[in-house]
Amino acid sequence: MLTKELIQTKKSASDALFFTKILAPTNDEQTLLITLENLGRLPADFNGSLLAQLLQHPNPKIRLLAVKNLGKLNDPSWFNVVSELATSEDNTLTRREAISTIGRMRTEKAIPILSQFLHDGDPKVVLQAIRALLHFKKLPEVQSALLPLTDHPNSEIQDAICKELRTDQKEGTRDKTHPLSPNALKNVLVHGDVRETLNHVPDESIHLTFTSPPYYNARDYTIYPSYDDYLAFLVDVFKAVHRITKEGRFFVLNTSPVIIPRMSRSHSSKRYAIPFDIHPLLTQMGWEFIEDIIWVKPEQSAKNRNGGFFQHRKPLGYKANSVSESVIVYRKKTDKLIDWNMRQYDNETIEASKVKGDYEKTNIWKINPANDKIHPAIFPIELAERVLQFYSFKGDLVFDPFGGIGTVGSAALSLERFFFLVEKEKEYVQRAMSRLAEMSLLLHKKPMQLSLDTFRTRMEMEQGSHDYHRHCD
Ligand SMILES: C[S@@+](CC[C@H](N)C(=O)[O-])C[C@H]1O[C@@H](n2cnc3c(N)ncnc32)[C@H](O)[C@@H]1O
Repeated sequence: MLTKELIQTKKSASDALFFTKILAPTNDEQTLLITLENLGRLPADFNGSLLAQLLQHPNPKIRLLAVKNLGKLNDPSWFNVVSELATSEDNTLTRREAISTIGRMRTEKAIPILSQFLHDGDPKVVLQAIRALLHFKKLPEVQSALLPLTDHPNSEIQDAICKELRTDQKEGTRDKTHPLSPNALKNVLVHGDVRETLNHVPDESIHLTFTSPPYYNARDYTIYPSYDDYLAFLVDVFKAVHRITKEGRFFVLNTSPVIIPRMSRSHSSKRYAIPFDIHPLLTQMGWEFIEDIIWVKPEQSAKNRNGGFFQHRKPLGYKANSVSESVIVYRKKTDKLIDWNMRQYDNETIEASKVKGDYEKTNIWKINPANDKIHPAIFPIELAERVLQFYSFKGDLVFDPFGGIGTVGSAALSLERFFFLVEKEKEYVQRAMSRLAEMSLLLHKKPMQLSLDTFRTRMEMEQGSHDYHRHCD
């Protein structure tokens, strides 16, 4: 019987006759498939023509495995046959494998055919061709073949090309200002409207934003004329957050669908899916989706919506009690890898910021909700602390544009980060300040509450003194 072990034994014994027989195109498909799947590593002297003769086999899986094995030989003398397969092949997986095999041959002869595949309908084939062509990226003909792909409709292709062809920003370059942030923002709570406040914050000032915006008109502290106005307001704020965020850093957004109660029993209540509606607007403005975390609260903490259905049990009337909120993680879009961001810190900061001990490994975060005697919608400090630990380093500046009673500020202080908060309601600002002051008795950089006017003046002065990026006073 043909087994993996037998194939390996025959390979070790260099039994050429065995392979000539077993790989004959006239053999049944099962035999060919088992053999091709179990060939493993091939010695350089393996007879490639046994594989090449299968490139025209009617079964696309056999053609695919044959070209894959031929690729293991890294032998440019098979270039013509593999090119022929690539151009005639209509099975996209086999075509992809053929391009990959051509790429592995690292021969300049392949440039015209690889360039041809930059126009393939399968984006994975295009990416495979790009990868192979990048070995020759210094050659002008390769550059001019790749450059038009910066406008390719597929964003992975666009990103790959932009990253590779941009010469001004090398992965290895260190930006010494990256870990720094303006002193005038550190441990500051501005009492004012966030849109106005952000007009006075310089570009690329902050490392992380964690926020929970107003829940449309579902709670009583903010009234928007319409849901569209509400989304437009969030778009304004989050565009400004994008501008003031450092390259490649994170924005973590806590929202959930809301219910606007019905006017009377003859009307229905209305639900708005805030996280889903805001998501495309965020990606359009340059936030890259990274993670969807679900914050799950205990069942008893959810508002009961089950009453009617519990009684009548009629289909269509089911309403789920909502025990979850979204915590969606975005990154300011960049060509650079997250490793680049990490490399901007010295070893001491990296070591001190490591997340020690046990941590949540899934995207389901079970955390009890928090309540406050004056604020109807705060998030628990445990949630803020998790986000800050996972997405910032010690000494970073963490921002909350909708500061509430300062939960992000408290988490920042407890984890040795700096905070910058904005909140428009006076009583929340006062409450935040008393919490933050209590926590910061021993701090070198004391929390400061500023009116919008004072903040504006301070920022103008800072700008004048070019003191933006000094780390400490
Ligand atoms: C969901 S709460 C955030 C609570 C906060 N996460 C906490 O734990 O304390 C949203 C906050 O945004 C504030 N807010 C709403 N519109 C604002 C605006 N235009 N500028 C500044 N703050 C605003 C509200 O007053 C409210 O306190």
